[in-house]
Amino acid sequence: MNSNGPDDPARSGGQELSLRENHDAERILCAAQDLWRARDLQSILQIASRAARELTGADGASFVLREGELCHYAQEDAISSLWQGRRFPMSSCVSGWVMENRSPAVVDDIALDPRIPIDVYRPTFVRSMAMVPVHARAPLGALGSYWGTSRAITARELALLQALADGAALAMENLVLRDDAERAQARMSELEAASCELAERYQALTDGQRQSDALNELLAHDLRSPAAGIMLVARSRLRDPDIPEREQHRWSKVLCSAELIQRTAMNLLDTSSREMGALVPRLEEIDLAVLLEEVAEILEPHAASRRQRIELRPGAPGGCRIRADGDLLRRVLQNLVDNAIRHGPARSAVHVEARRRDARWVEVVVRDEGPGVPVHLRDHIFDRYARLGVQGAGLSAGRGLGLTFCKLAVEAHGGTIEVRDGEGRGSCFCVLLPG
Ligand SMILES: Nc1ncnc2c1ncn2[C@@H]1O[C@H](COP(=O)(O)OP(=O)(O)O)[C@@H](O)[C@H]1O
Ligand SMILES: [Mg+2]
Repeated sequence: MNSNGPDDPARSGGQELSLRENHDAERILCAAQDLWRARDLQSILQIASRAARELTGADGASFVLREGELCHYAQEDAISSLWQGRRFPMSSCVSGWVMENRSPAVVDDIALDPRIPIDVYRPTFVRSMAMVPVHARAPLGALGSYWGTSRAITARELALLQALADGAALAMENLVLRDDAERAQARMSELEAASCELAERYQALTDGQRQSDALNELLAHDLRSPAAGIMLVARSRLRDPDIPEREQHRWSKVLCSAELIQRTAMNLLDTSSREMGALVPRLEEIDLAVLLEEVAEILEPHAASRRQRIELRPGAPGGCRIRADGDLLRRVLQNLVDNAIRHGPARSAVHVEARRRDARWVEVVVRDEGPGVPVHLRDHIFDRYARLGVQGAGLSAGRGLGLTFCKLAVEAHGGTIEVRDGEGRGSCFCVLLPG
C-alpha cells in the first residue's frame, strides 16, 4: 500500500486539516470583508464576536471596549448570557489585564489562573478562555472566546482570534477616519454655502453701491446749478445797501442753505466710489491767507445766523504761499469751518489759522469751542457717511461726506488731516500741506 494513498491515516488527517484551514480562511476573509464594510461600531462588535466564536469553536465570545479605566462588555455571542452590557474596573477582569499588558491571555483552566476572579466566574458556563487585545499598540478593547470545559487552547485558535481582533481594530480606525472625512466633507459644504452667500451679498452690495453712486452723481449734477443760481440772486440782494434788516437776515439764510446744497452736491460727487482716486489736484500758486479770507466771507452769513464770529489769523504776509488746487482747498476749508460753526455753541468763536511750520510744510488749523470729538471716534469721522451723535444746531444736518472729501482732497495733495483737542475745549482740525 502506498503510504501516501487515500487510506493512509497521515494523508487523510492532512486533508482534514487543509479542509479546516480552507474553511477558516474563507470564514476569516468573509469576516474581514464584513468588518471593512461595517458602517457603525455595533456592527463591528457583532461581526467580530460571532466570527470569533465560530472560528475558535467556542461556546461564547465577547467584545470588550475600553472606556477610560473601565472595561465595557459591549457585545456577547454565547450559549448563555455572561457580562453583556456590564462594566468592570480594568484591574478586576482578564480583559483589563490584556489591555494593560497589550498581550493575549490564555487561560486553560479558570480555577488555576490568579487573573480570574473565580467567584464571579464560578456561576457561569466558562471554564477556559483566550483573550487578545484589539489594537495592540494602544488597545481599544479586547476580544475573547470562552469554553465550557477546561482545555488546552491551541496556538492556532489564538492566532485566529488575534487576526479577527486586528481586523476589528482596522475597521474601528476606518470608522473614525470615515466619520472625520464625512465631517470634513459636511464642513466643506457648509463653508462652500457660506462663501457663496457672502459672494452674493458682496455682489448685491456692490450693485447697490454702484446704483447709489449713480444716483448720487445724478442728484449732485441736478442740484449744483439751481444752488448756484440761488446763491447768485441772494448775493446780489445782500449787496444792496438799502436792504431792510429783516430781509437781509432772510437772504443770508437763503445764501447759507444754497451754499450748503452746493457743497453737499460737490462732496457727493468727489467721494462717490467711482471717483475714488480720480481726485487729481490742478496745482497753481495760491496764498493760503487769501483763501482763508474768501472762506470766511462765504461762511460769514452762516456764522452770523448763529451769532458766532470767525477769527482769522492768516499768518505773516506771503508766508503761506504754496502750490495747490485752490478750488479743492477752498472746499476743504469750507467744510471744516462749516462743521466748526455747526458744532460750536451760539455766540462762540471759530478760529481759523494758517502758519508755516518749516521750510517744507504749512499748517491750517480750524478750531471751535464745541463739545469736541471723542478720542475713540477720531479715526472714524473721516469714513464715508460717518455722522456721530446729535448734530449741532444750525442749518440742516449734513450727510457725513464732508470730512471724507477733506481727507481725499488733502491726501491728493500729499498732505494729512487729523483732529485733536481744541484749546481747553472744542475740536481742532489740523491740515498739513507740503509747500
Ligand atoms: N467740529 C466738530 N466738532 C464735533 N464733531 C464734529 C466736528 N466736525 C465733524 N464732527 C463729527 O464728524 C461727523 C462727520 O462730519 P462731516 O463729514 O463733515 O459730516 P456732516 O455732513 O455730518 O457734517 C459729524 O457728523 C460730526 O459728528
Ligand atoms: Mg460737515
